[in-house]
Amino acid sequence: MRRLTCSGVSARRSGSPARILLSAPAMATATAAIVALLLGLSGWRAAARDILPPGPVDAAVGKNVTLATLLQNPEYSFIIWNFNDGREQTHVATVGSAGLKVNAPYEGRASVDATSGALRLSALTTDDSGDFSVSVVSADGGTETAEIRLRVLEPVSGVLVSADAAEAVEHNSTLVLTCAANGSFLRFTWLNETRPIVASDSERLSVEESEASSRLTIARVLRTDLARPIFCSAANQLETEKSAPFTLPVHYGPDEVTVTASDPSRFVRADSDFNLTCATRSSPAATFTWYQNQTLMDSVGPVLPLEAVRRRPLWRETSRYTCRATNAETERVVASPAVSFAVVEALSGVELSGPAVGAVLLAGEDSANLSCAAAAGVVDERTWLKDGRPPAIDGGRVTAAPDGSWISLAPLREDDNGRYECRLANAVSEQKAAYELVVNYGPEAAAVSGESAVELRDAVTLRCTAASVPPANFTWKFNGTLTGVKTPTYAIAEAVYKNTGAYTCQAHNAVTGKNVSSTHNLSVKEEGALDEGLSDGAIAGIIIGILAALGVAIGVVMYCRQKVPVESPY
Ligand SMILES: *[C@@H]1O[C@H](CO)[C@@H](O)[C@H](O)[C@H]1NC(C)=O
Ligand SMILES: *[C@@H]1O[C@H](CO)[C@@H](O)[C@H](O)[C@H]1NC(C)=O
Ligand SMILES: *[C@@H]1O[C@H](CO)[C@@H](O)[C@H](O)[C@H]1NC(C)=O
Ligand SMILES: *[C@@H]1O[C@H](CO)[C@@H](O)[C@H](O)[C@H]1NC(C)=O
Repeated sequence: MRRLTCSGVSARRSGSPARILLSAPAMATATAAIVALLLGLSGWRAAARDILPPGPVDAAVGKNVTLATLLQNPEYSFIIWNFNDGREQTHVATVGSAGLKVNAPYEGRASVDATSGALRLSALTTDDSGDFSVSVVSADGGTETAEIRLRVLEPVSGVLVSADAAEAVEHNSTLVLTCAANGSFLRFTWLNETRPIVASDSERLSVEESEASSRLTIARVLRTDLARPIFCSAANQLETEKSAPFTLPVHYGPDEVTVTASDPSRFVRADSDFNLTCATRSSPAATFTWYQNQTLMDSVGPVLPLEAVRRRPLWRETSRYTCRATNAETERVVASPAVSFAVVEALSGVELSGPAVGAVLLAGEDSANLSCAAAAGVVDERTWLKDGRPPAIDGGRVTAAPDGSWISLAPLREDDNGRYECRLANAVSEQKAAYELVVNYGPEAAAVSGESAVELRDAVTLRCTAASVPPANFTWKFNGTLTGVKTPTYAIAEAVYKNTGAYTCQAHNAVTGKNVSSTHNLSVKEEGALDEGLSDGAIAGIIIGILAALGVAIGVVMYCRQKVPVESPY
């Protein structure tokens, strides 16, 4: 409310000086003119009380408004309502003893309540916005005057957010969003989805308000700024309208770029389905290129398959592989850390070769060269085993290649017979091969084991042995005569006297052609003949028995001696 104090001498001191309407000289002049016109310069009286409530009063276009007073059953000559739109003052209506008089421009739209002095205006237009003043003139010519502001608000409509660009680049772009709306006395609010955006939230944000629009400036835009839709809401005293959601692509990235190997090993099998995958966050999606030790490879896309590595001339070498992510919109290129590995072919077709199968090798005469190799793959490690244990390489008769690819046995020996194994390995595979080496020799000295003397009807088994490869064939002679027995054992189920004699076993090696023989004598005795005399066990038993008895006897004697009675004192 603006108050005119009409003492003409001094302004009322209760309000702040800024609120005194007299700061508007044109209006003051106009008011003075009207009042002078109506009152004939009869002199003003200081107002002692408020006659209008504080303003402003808001009302919508097309609606009605009543500007009520604080008067209660006032006594007056006239109540005069005037309107000032800031440029000129217009008389609205006057009520007095002669009744209501409405000024022509307000004909049909204005009325003053004769009891309270309230002004009623209908069919409001925006031109009705301005200051209404009421002057209550009493019978003695004293005048009270007060003023109230009316704001006629146009409805809020067409709230629209627009931007100065169709897209933005994170960290680079400065974006200006404009919110415009129809309506009067608008206040604008920016919302990030539902959270209000306040300029003081960040030094990157600033908001500039003007009559019918608001500008939100976002410097060095971040993806998060527009991750959710932006809304603008425009409001006047009476209503609020929200814009449609506003979105705008913010291009960003690539962020940190990672490379993941499907198998983290430093050695990759050439026949595996190994690959590298490159990933990053980027909008729009990044494109990827691959490098082997800084050299561009012919593969694009987020996955580098092993085939692409194997197309490189140096695919077997341990190399550093990196990926670079490019964002065409942000024009940024980011490289991944390197992943190092070598591609290794798995070993296959491992063979241990030696003298041809079927070749006859003779100990002391022939030699053998066992060699082990793989048909494919590079061998890192070679291990030899003979019958499950490392062979004794002596550097003389038994030598091995420095790289272990062969073992030479020259000349061959009896104990070289056996199963040879070689195991080849590299970083990604391992294969074994075996070879059975047969060295022919012997028979060495034959020996016959078995009983020398038996009783009639006892069973007899003589066994002949002779070291030989291949195993010897045996023949048995009795007293120099061939028996027809050709097994290593010579068996007699029940001995008879005429079995007594010399048994000769002859061992023959068909490959070496060598023969050896050994003779064993057997004597067959009458039944019981071999029971004569006690067995060693029985003799031992008897001796122990005698010694035990002797021991007891000695013990008793000693005991009795100790117990020789002491002469009784009685
Ligand atoms: C406004 O005033 C006019 C006439 O004074 C009346 O016909 C109309 O019904 C009023 N409208 C409202 C919303 O009160
Ligand atoms: C973003 O800004 C950087 C440094 O200010 C500049 O080098 C780069 O080219 C800019 N990117 C775009 C897409 O404008
Ligand atoms: C054994 O054979 C390999 C090839 O198979 C050969 O290179 C090597 O010299 C031979 N070793 C000897 C002692 O003859
Ligand atoms: C075999 O020879 C032994 C000793 O020369 C002789 O005692 C025995 O009678 C002979 N036996 C046969 C059946 O000729």
